[in-house]
Amino acid sequence: MEDIQGRVTRQGIRIYDPADFEGMRKAGRAAAEILDTVAPHVVPGTTTAAIDAFIEDEIRRMGVTSATIGYKGYQHASCISINHVVCHGIPGPKVIKDGDIMNIDVTVIVDGWFGDSSRMYVAGTPSRKAERLIEVTHDSLMIGIAAVKPGNTFGDIGHAIQTFVEAQRMSVVRDFCGHGLGRVFHAPPNVLHYGRPGTKEVLEEGMIFTIEPMVNLGRPETKVLADDWTAVTRDKSLSAQFEHSVGVTADGCEIFTLSPAGRFHPTKA
Ligand code: MF3
Ligand code: CO
Ligand code: CO
Repeated sequence: MEDIQGRVTRQGIRIYDPADFEGMRKAGRAAAEILDTVAPHVVPGTTTAAIDAFIEDEIRRMGVTSATIGYKGYQHASCISINHVVCHGIPGPKVIKDGDIMNIDVTVIVDGWFGDSSRMYVAGTPSRKAERLIEVTHDSLMIGIAAVKPGNTFGDIGHAIQTFVEAQRMSVVRDFCGHGLGRVFHAPPNVLHYGRPGTKEVLEEGMIFTIEPMVNLGRPETKVLADDWTAVTRDKSLSAQFEHSVGVTADGCEIFTLSPAGRFHPTKA
């Protein structure tokens, strides 16, 4: 289907053009810059509400818009998911302790384009197993991204992530996935972080989506708490996540949410 809005595949996946990629570059960079500036604020003794307030100020200062405030009733500029929280942790009065690990997820809108990214942060000194979890989760995202090129399938991405994670005796969360995005926050397809090679939709140049694997030290099952947002591991094991927004290019992909300061990975320089 060809019209002024551009092409959409039979599976409902929008194909974007080079001008659209420029829009995503700006939105992705804004999200990455915010995540860069958060790092010094993640210290023992502070609260997740204080970190979120800093992020909200930063978003305002940059003149961009939070995509999460008001999204399905969510009221915060970030999700902050500590230790056994898998995703969608709600900022609040919880005091951060030495050794806590947390994912901070920020989505901003710049000129109508959505930049969605998350990273892990550590307060003080993490345990060795927490550090290893973070390492494996980060590597799993980059391994998934390495499978992004025209002709590969979404199943190839999921398979690459799952195979790597399970070889490290960790597990991939099944209950949450990545998503198409662009001028909307969540669009087709669902980007699963597990799967079989050659299955699901074929990647085409111009597709834009997130990859955001959640990896647990224990079993993959999750449950959502009574607040209807916070997802935790059922077995209370530690969980980690990293997220990039990417666009498929002629021979691979472009990562829109790379850290300008090279700070994407928390435990490596
Ligand atoms: N940024 C999350 C994602 O990666 C979505 C957060 S929605 C919220 O898709 F409402 F919880 F903020
Ligand atoms: Co996302
Ligand atoms: Co996100």
